[in-house]
Amino acid sequence: PAEETAQQELTAPGDFRVCATEGGARLGMLHTAHGTVHTPMFMPVGTVGSVKSVDPRDLTEVGAQVILGNTYHLYLRPGDEVVARRGGLHKFNGWDGPILTDSGGFQVFSLAGLRNITDDGVEFRSHLNGSKHFFSPEKSIEIQQNLGSDIMMVFDECAAAGSDRDYTIQALERTTAWAKRCREFHPAGKNGQLLFGICQGGFYEDLRERSIEEITAIPFEGYALGGLSVGETKPEMLRILRHSAPLLPADKPRYLMGVGTPLDILDGIEAGIDMFDCVLPTRNARNGTLYTSQGKVNIKRAEFMEDDSPLDPNCDCYTCRTFSKAYLRHLYIAKELLSSRLNTIHNLAYFLRLAKDARDALRRGGFAEFKKSVEAIYGVNGE
Ligand code: GUN
Ligand code: ZN
Repeated sequence: PAEETAQQELTAPGDFRVCATEGGARLGMLHTAHGTVHTPMFMPVGTVGSVKSVDPRDLTEVGAQVILGNTYHLYLRPGDEVVARRGGLHKFNGWDGPILTDSGGFQVFSLAGLRNITDDGVEFRSHLNGSKHFFSPEKSIEIQQNLGSDIMMVFDECAAAGSDRDYTIQALERTTAWAKRCREFHPAGKNGQLLFGICQGGFYEDLRERSIEEITAIPFEGYALGGLSVGETKPEMLRILRHSAPLLPADKPRYLMGVGTPLDILDGIEAGIDMFDCVLPTRNARNGTLYTSQGKVNIKRAEFMEDDSPLDPNCDCYTCRTFSKAYLRHLYIAKELLSSRLNTIHNLAYFLRLAKDARDALRRGGFAEFKKSVEAIYGVNGE
């Protein structure tokens, strides 16, 4: 297959090549310690080391390349040292493809109780049992080293949605200082683990520019846009995305954290983003909201009670090959565990195929047309 032809040319973890462009959009390849991946790509979220309700065989079958893990969750339970003693997260969870770990610099702000943020780090209480903990940039990296992820993220401060300019500046400055400490603690190339910087700056273009200048002055193997998808409107997200993505270095992978809907992902690709992650396909699967080539389907609706057709006639996933809408509706209504698994397999297949179709379109110069075809189904302002 076309995607595999040039793989052997990338040899060192962090090697990145842009193979084709269309406008700002890029087709690329990134090498990691657990193999080469093709971008643009969507990365399923496996918060506690497991992509909820599916296993590594399912993930391989639906075409996942990289899965996410969370520093915050794995540190609290089972503990990063427990994972390290098991040989690292890949050995522990049975996924031998690349793993990206988020730093905790988002979860301590969104999940943990009572936080005390200083220039040194963040003191927080566990959302599990209220116990007190402290994350510094060095601690976050040490945990990610113990987990053995292929791509580590710097410890950043994601200011809450609606933060004022003064607070956004304070968080931006802290994020830069912490990024420097993360790079010093983890020199380029160490253990084959890549380290990506994260740009903040809220919804202020000039602050975004400043953060991008400061973070890209530090040599990371990739750069992310953080602080988006935090409750802002879609036009606000698009304004910052279109402003900031093109300012990131062209020769490094670009990652839009926590985004998003199918249309958000295509907007991101158009703006020059290479990597995406979001809980949407997995979380919505468990709520019975399914993404199909005909639009979103709520599988609990009575109209599906005796519908023998597959969920999506244009999907080749195990769920669509094997089961009817009537059965999927029954499983959902009966609260069967299998409902979550079959729905998750399908939604992940949809998101991963969306990214694959975008790559195929970029290879032939047809991305703009492909994006229009998805917009025709999902509506330019819908999801
Ligand atoms: N996930 C989604 N947004 C963010 C962010 O701003 N920072 C981090 N570390 N993770 C995120
Ligand atoms: Zn399917």
